[in-house]
Formats: sequence, C-alpha cells, structure tokens
Amino acid sequence: NALSITVQNLVTSTNTVLKEWAVHGAPEGTILIAEEQTQGRGRMGRPFYSPAKTGIYMSILLRPALGLDDSVLLTTSAAVAVSNAIEEVTGCQTKIKWVNDIYIKDKKVCGILTEGSVCLEGGGLEYCIVGIGINVSRPEGDFPGKLRHTADGIFSNSKDSIGLRSRLAATIINNFWAYYKNPFHDNILTEYRNRSFIIGKEIEILSGDTLQQATAVDIDTRARLVVRYQDGTQKILTSGDVSIKYT
Ligand code: BTN
Repeated sequence: NALSITVQNLVTSTNTVLKEWAVHGAPEGTILIAEEQTQGRGRMGRPFYSPAKTGIYMSILLRPALGLDDSVLLTTSAAVAVSNAIEEVTGCQTKIKWVNDIYIKDKKVCGILTEGSVCLEGGGLEYCIVGIGINVSRPEGDFPGKLRHTADGIFSNSKDSIGLRSRLAATIINNFWAYYKNPFHDNILTEYRNRSFIIGKEIEILSGDTLQQATAVDIDTRARLVVRYQDGTQKILTSGDVSIKYT
C-alpha cells in the first residue's frame, strides 16, 4: 500500500496526533512530520526537545500482524534505518546505544519512541506508532540545560537545512519501509549489533533503587540485552526494565 506523508508546521507531538488519526482509522503507512513540537515526548515519560528548523520529528503508523513482544523489532529496524540514512546522506558515522538512541561520537543525535495499542481480543497489536526525533543541527542559542552536554546535532553548527532534512527524512522512510516489508530480521539484528556500542562494555544497571555492575554480553534475537553480573550469573533485560549507564 502507498505511503501518505503529511507535513505540519507545529504540533504537540507527532506521536500523539498520529495516535488520534490511528484511532479514527488512518491506514498503515500514514506518516506525520512536523517542523516543531511543543510537547515532544521521549521514553520513560521524558520530554524530547523539538525546536523549529533544526530537527526532524516524524511518526509512522503501522498495523503489523505482530504481538507486543515482536514490536521491539520495529524499533530495532527504525534504529538501523536512521543510522544507515545518516551515513548515506551525510557521511557521518553513527553508533546505536541500546535500545534505541543514536549517537555520533559521545553525543545523542536521535531518539526513537515506539508506542502501540493492543487488541483486547487476540492480544495482537491494533496499531503501532514509531516516532523518530533527530537533531540535524545544533539549535540556535544551543540546547537547554544538561542537554547541552549530552545532545548534539549531526552538524554542530546551527543552520536551517531544509534540503538536508528532507533528504534525510526521505531516506529514513525508504530504508524503514524496505525493512518492514521484507523483514529479514536476522540481517537487521546483525546490522544493529555491528553498530551497537554496548556489547563487551562494563555497564551499570539501575533497576528500581538498586544499582548493579555488569558486562553487556550480547543482544539476542529479540533485541534484548544479555548481561553478566559480577557473580557470573546472566540475565536477559528488556528495554522497559532498566536504565543503563556506561562506565
Ligand atoms: C527518546 O529519546 O527517549 C525518544 C525520543 C522520540 C522523539 C520523537 S520526535 C517524533 C515523535 N513524537 C514525539 O513526541 N516523540 C517522537
């Protein structure tokens, strides 16, 4: 089926608006791109800073024949799609921080928020929205607060880059759609692992109030993180469980 892309100047959050459209029957392949978001949302209830002209804020509506468990592979595909698109269009090398943040050097340039609604009958997904936020250039007057130190644009200078943003958005959509329609998940996971900078690293895992040291051992076939604690026990983590710090 055809993709339908809408671009709007200002929205609260492309994920929130597209969710409304989904509830009212919008078909798979409906894509909403905004120039600016007033209430851009990140994972774990965090805000996503979304100023005008320097970023890409995009959400893609899917109606996949998948259960919730498999929907993580959509996020994985989106991360690989963005990573590859950034390299294709700009030549910049990117790394994926498990589970779905994209980094250039040690700064975050992209986050992905996948949200779904589960059918009560059957437990499949009624719809799924993959939201992608990219800092293309550093915003005028810089990022607020501590984002100044943790975030960056793909380009560190601030310039309005409509041509570049359009090319990037188009390449991301093309890549993602190709992966989604031909889901050779093994290939995506291999690319994901190759770009991942967590495997083999010492990490700290915050779960509830406890902080534990561990080594990241692998990313499994469901994009979960396999870790080994200092006492030798292994555990498989899903993205919802924990917050990871790289030591
Ligand atoms: C994260 O970094 O935790 C995820 C950030 C996801 C941001 C994108 S921007 C487009 C879409 N709309 C939102 O409100 N969030 C996502």
